[in-house]
Amino acid sequence: MKNSLREILGSEHPVIQGAMGFVSNPELVAAVSGAGGFGQLATIFLEDIEELRRQVRRVKALTSRPFGANLFAKQPLSIDFARVLAEEGVRTVTFSGGSPKKIAPLLNDLGINFIAVTATVRGAVSASESGAAAVVAEGSESGGVQGYRGSSTLVLVPQVADAVDIPVVAAGGISDGRSYRAALALGASGVQVGTRFIATKECIAHPTFKEAIVKADDTSTEVVDLGSFCLRALVTKTVELISKSELDPSALFVPEKIRKGWIGGELEAGLFASGQVAGAIKSIKTVREVIMELIGEP
Ligand SMILES: Cc1cc2nc3c(=O)[nH]c(=O)nc-3n(C[C@H](O)[C@H](O)[C@H](O)COP(=O)(O)O)c2cc1C
Repeated sequence: MKNSLREILGSEHPVIQGAMGFVSNPELVAAVSGAGGFGQLATIFLEDIEELRRQVRRVKALTSRPFGANLFAKQPLSIDFARVLAEEGVRTVTFSGGSPKKIAPLLNDLGINFIAVTATVRGAVSASESGAAAVVAEGSESGGVQGYRGSSTLVLVPQVADAVDIPVVAAGGISDGRSYRAALALGASGVQVGTRFIATKECIAHPTFKEAIVKADDTSTEVVDLGSFCLRALVTKTVELISKSELDPSALFVPEKIRKGWIGGELEAGLFASGQVAGAIKSIKTVREVIMELIGEP
């Protein structure tokens, strides 16, 4: 018998807060888990295992509810991070940015459930065969790292739901009760939400980043080609220069520049990952308000 998403997450609501680099800091994670969702720390830009341990302990000091972390395939410290998470009692992680095949046996030995994030049906089937407890089917409208040939959430989720017999979590374009219910109608058991959680009071993102999301319309993001992968980001002057081949983007997706932009508010410092759904986000709310709106409770 496969576990249900509720059993895997241990949270009250099937709402995962997407890992978001520096933005998913312990305070946001604890706020999401405290409001009945499943908060998630990010490790993509961490350069030190002790920093992850500090962050996990900070979340534990703020909430007793379950939370997780994201391991990123191209992060060289992923194996060390997995060990720290196991030592600190984190039982569920998402794995993104590549196939979980290699790390799956280690996660299994450590007693960690993994949810594979994938943008393709093939990726979902392969992750399921590698022992994933669930998959996040991430449509191409989502904010952040993308492949070159992704389908939208509407197209991807039902195909993934037909192809695997583990729970499917829909990601990309979900911000309110309508999109949450649509995801469930497509065959998902829950949702992973990124961009909507940036525009919350508890999020550490700089007001400039939050306001850019609130001001965005349906055409405010673009997929930027970074050479070996793409990133959906807000259209800024920097992105316009990249599109015209007047700026080399390869040096922009690095921790120092990302921090300057997302936390420091320097709009032209780097690339501001955001989903197309920014156009539907009209105000900064509390995390609890966002979760209640998603699950359709006042
Ligand atoms: C600013 C930002 C940073 C992100 N960083 C990560 C990351 O480190 N790891 C990851 O697996 N996904 C990352 N994502 C993707 C989210 O976890 C989530 O799947 C996605 O935002 C869902 O689409 P939405 O933005 O339309 O809600 C990021 C997304 C954003 C907007």
